[in-house]
Amino acid sequence: MVLMSWGQLLAVAIVMLVLFISLYLWMKDVPMFIGKTGLQGKTCIVTGANAGIGYFTALDFAKRGARVILACRNKEKAEAARESIVQATGNKNVVVRELDLSSLSSVRLFAKKVNEEEERVDILVNNAGVIGLPNQTTGDGLEVNFATNHFGPFLLTNLLLDKLKQSAPSRVINVSSVVQSMGKIDFDNLRAEKSFSQHNIYFNSKLANVLFTRELARRLADTGVTVCALHPGSVQTDLLHNMPLHIRLPMRVFKMFLRTPEEGAQTTLFCALADEVADRSGKYFAECRLAERQVNPLANDPKVCKKLWDISCQLTGFKPVDETAL
Ligand SMILES: NC(=O)c1ccc[n+]([C@@H]2O[C@H](COP(=O)([O-])OP(=O)(O)OC[C@H]3O[C@@H](n4cnc5c(N)ncnc54)[C@H](OP(=O)(O)O)[C@@H]3O)[C@@H](O)[C@H]2O)c1
Ligand SMILES: *[C@@H]1O[C@H](CO)[C@@H](O)[C@H](O)[C@H]1NC(C)=O
Ligand SMILES: *[C@@H]1O[C@H](CO)[C@@H](O)[C@H](O)[C@H]1NC(C)=O
Repeated sequence: MVLMSWGQLLAVAIVMLVLFISLYLWMKDVPMFIGKTGLQGKTCIVTGANAGIGYFTALDFAKRGARVILACRNKEKAEAARESIVQATGNKNVVVRELDLSSLSSVRLFAKKVNEEEERVDILVNNAGVIGLPNQTTGDGLEVNFATNHFGPFLLTNLLLDKLKQSAPSRVINVSSVVQSMGKIDFDNLRAEKSFSQHNIYFNSKLANVLFTRELARRLADTGVTVCALHPGSVQTDLLHNMPLHIRLPMRVFKMFLRTPEEGAQTTLFCALADEVADRSGKYFAECRLAERQVNPLANDPKVCKKLWDISCQLTGFKPVDETAL
């Protein structure tokens, strides 16, 4: 066997360094939303706005002059976020409203308050999400991860629809994930009746976000309400804090390759604010552009989207008013 010479070793080292730097530059090449859209007189709701991607989404809306509602479960963290947003933007029209998406009664209470107190809702960002909670049944008989990521936002969006329609042109943005492409929808296991896995239930719930975006867009055709789903990129946030160490540790090591939460908010902002999204209702975005090719084929089956919608109505107790018309 011939050992490598110093020259060869150096060549290998250089190639590896170049690869490493290219990977870094590629991962960190994040398109930023540069639109100047102003939001004076508009009202925006961001769920999970006390941290991560949601915080920077809310911060940007506040900079643009919107009234911003931080819809959060953890009140203390939300108040701290509010203070720092007010300080950074000088916009005092930022409020905290309590919302626990894993509880349908909390969702109803939140929606009732918004419907009573707010004149309008122009942008709803369904951003809050969770991964890795152990299998646990909520007070509503739902599985907690799926309830937080899908059933809660489903009910919330539906309860706010009249406000959104009255405020049209308005938008609903669903923060999904690229992992939706690995998701499946097993209608007999939406509550973990048969099997449970931390990853799969997350993948499936993120796929459900896309199916709902499709079905809602169909139902809202010609109302001036645009709905879309998106992947924010791989972002340095606390999202994985419930996951086991063998998942969290590699992410720590690769942290330098991941986006900052501010970079992670860019596609959300693009979907909420860019003019070209207005007539792309029901679509899926990533990297501040259309990314339909990444969508799970299940999302292109209207029957599956419709069925998930119907089951979600049953399991959340939501009754659409003019169902016969749809
Ligand atoms: N980070 C990524 O790489 C990545 C990739 C793809 C998709 N996403 C998606 O991006 C979204 C934002 O996540 P992130 O990365 O910014 O994570 P994060 O920093 O963990 O933020 C998640 C937010 O959701 C809130 N939340 C969790 N459970 C809730 C509940 N039951 N009711 C109300 N709020 C709840 C959290 O509030 P508490 O403080 O109360 O827990 C927190 O504010 C998620 O939908 C996630 O699936 C992230
Ligand atoms: C996203 O999609 C539709 C409309 O945009 C909505 O009904 C659904 O509840 C939303 N939220 C999630 C997280 O799926
Ligand atoms: C998940 O938990 C619920 C209730 O705690 C239980 O009925 C169900 O069998 C569990 N699912 C699995 C696959 O362990």
